[in-house]
Amino acid sequence: MDKMRKLFTPGPLGISMRVRQQMLRDIGSREPEFIETIRFVRKKLLEIANVGDEVFTVVPMQGSGTFALESAFTTTIPRNDGKVLILDNGSYGKRLMKICQTSSIQTEIMSVPEALNFSIEDITKRLESDQFSHLAMVHCETSTGAINPIEEIGTAVKAVSPDTIFMVDSMSGFVGIPMNLDNIDVMVTSTNKCMQGAPGFAYCFLKKELLNRCKGNSRSLSLDLFDQYEALEKTGQFRFTIPTHVMLAFAEAIRELEDEGGVIQRAKRYKENAEILRREMQQMGFLTLLDHSDHQLSYIITSFHYPKHKNFNFDIFYNKLYEKGSVIYPGKVTIANCFRIGTIGDIWPDDIKKLLSDIKETMQEMEIDLPIKNV
Ligand SMILES: Cc1ncc(COP(=O)(O)O)c(C=O)c1O
Repeated sequence: MDKMRKLFTPGPLGISMRVRQQMLRDIGSREPEFIETIRFVRKKLLEIANVGDEVFTVVPMQGSGTFALESAFTTTIPRNDGKVLILDNGSYGKRLMKICQTSSIQTEIMSVPEALNFSIEDITKRLESDQFSHLAMVHCETSTGAINPIEEIGTAVKAVSPDTIFMVDSMSGFVGIPMNLDNIDVMVTSTNKCMQGAPGFAYCFLKKELLNRCKGNSRSLSLDLFDQYEALEKTGQFRFTIPTHVMLAFAEAIRELEDEGGVIQRAKRYKENAEILRREMQQMGFLTLLDHSDHQLSYIITSFHYPKHKNFNFDIFYNKLYEKGSVIYPGKVTIANCFRIGTIGDIWPDDIKKLLSDIKETMQEMEIDLPIKNV
């Protein structure tokens, strides 16, 4: 068997053996045990998000996170009079824009440079000066590692425009970052981020009152979230072939989260991972893209500038780490040459220490003296 590598990536992420093992058996999608598994997963997700089932529902959708985002946008935005304001400070904000444009949804984008904060005043002014049925943004901008203040923005949005639907892409935030859904109407996330399940489906939290108004909105048959919801409520089943193995693994990922101590304990572990990583990387002379003192800097993923040294070459650095069993990730920003190191998934402080020792060894092999001078 190929060497097991640790993934320090934004996803797909490494998962534990106990979660992986659940995928070793087949199960029929109509078996009572499987229908009960789906019911368990939906019920537990509401508990994890700390929302009541009288207000919220959760609807899983086959595919990766982008499929669920597309499904949420094309189902909840009316065909004729919908208009979305998208807040963008990175590539995943831009992806929300692309999803809307692809479906011919009327859209306006409010961009700030990558990794910078939005001005809440600018957002509320824009909402007051025009009618937007929806406002959408990313929670943790995984391309930079920035956390956007969704709760603060949600409160401000509802104060000036209570009927505007607030949609959040919390793909890499949910469960890694404790959050309050009070002012959020739609939140989308996936199995294989901080929930530590296998990739294969994603899910949307929606206010029921909103979803119940969405029949017939969808521009797509397979991504119709309302139909998916109706089928789940009526039959307990998905409409089309479900990744059964992934669902079994996800139920185990929920039990694993509970055994770890829930969202607070998981967030604590991720924070510890990131703190160890940044402290030692800084000692080696690596510089982060975001300022450490910035409250936006998340512990989900960190972007590091390429060191300024004639011997540094990212491909060589990456491949040498890969050979040692550690997988990192290229950067995804346009303003600087960066690489990224994720600290979520089945990653523990000892894994981070091993990665750091692999990085030191690699720098030695590349003949780059530590600490790096960056001149
Ligand atoms: C914030 C955010 N949005 C959307 C996505 C897209 O998810 P997927 O690649 O599962 O479609 C990602 C993936 O990392 C993400 O981090």
